[in-house]
Amino acid sequence: MKITVVGAGNVGATCANVIAHKELANEVVLVDIKEGFAEGKALDIWETSPINLYDTRTVGSTNDYTKTADSDVVVITSGLPRKPGMSRDDLISTNAGIVKSVTENIIKYSPDAKIIIVSNPLDVMTYVAYLSAKVDSSRVFGMAGILDTARYRSFLAEALDVSPKDIQAVLMGGHGDTMVPLPRYTTVGGIPVTELIDSEKLDAIVERTKKGGGELVNLMGTSAWYAPGAAAAQMVEAIVRDQKRVFPVCAWLQGEYGLKDIYLGVPVVLGKNGIEKIIELDLNAEEKALLDESAKAVKDVMDVFDNMNK
Ligand code: LAC
Repeated sequence: MKITVVGAGNVGATCANVIAHKELANEVVLVDIKEGFAEGKALDIWETSPINLYDTRTVGSTNDYTKTADSDVVVITSGLPRKPGMSRDDLISTNAGIVKSVTENIIKYSPDAKIIIVSNPLDVMTYVAYLSAKVDSSRVFGMAGILDTARYRSFLAEALDVSPKDIQAVLMGGHGDTMVPLPRYTTVGGIPVTELIDSEKLDAIVERTKKGGGELVNLMGTSAWYAPGAAAAQMVEAIVRDQKRVFPVCAWLQGEYGLKDIYLGVPVVLGKNGIEKIIELDLNAEEKALLDESAKAVKDVMDVFDNMNK
């Protein structure tokens, strides 16, 4: 098994580190445009192998995609991160060009790869990668739902003083302030969360989740990496181990949830073929209205991209 992570910044390097630590592949290739940067990060990670006791090789490359040839899974994290005061959507023009050229290079050397997009604005960058890769949409998808549900679950674990392991949740929609955490599908050790927390506290956690990325940007002056990197690595694991995990993933919708020709977060089954199934929940009117609102926000940014390319 061979995995490539493009972008050796904080998110990419964290993702490569988790992949290596979990021995998800024989080789992890880290690629970056900055001379020597990916080589340095890959070497630093490799030097943890005798301490952390694994044998996955990490190697770096300065923009040489021949080294990525025949990767099974590729994670694309390239692009500028958010700064305080910026929305994810403000990154579109710079990051679209980067994601397009990276995806074309990846597909040239790894025509059969599954591609996971992490670059922002996430849903639209996944669309850009899909257009650039020209492969089936089951093989091009975005990482956001695992991160956003992880934030939601960690906040709930804290509020309820229980293990985050026991909190399961579904979250849908775009990776932005219109994302839709679904309390009706949130359980704690199998118990509906609404039986354990009052609605005011739950609403506050839902609101905090929606702005979870921004909370970190405000604290650190740049966007997060530990949870985004670990979330992308969890998707890699589901694919390389053919786990058929059920995760919220940014997927190409063709009529599911009444939505068409849009990349949006929905629950899917993730296995060796990539997205093996999109799960359609029976949303109530309020949930559907929130999902439609989120879809509209994503579509507006997709239109900005489409108009840039006319
Ligand atoms: C975040 C960025 C990675 O949500 O989108 O932290």
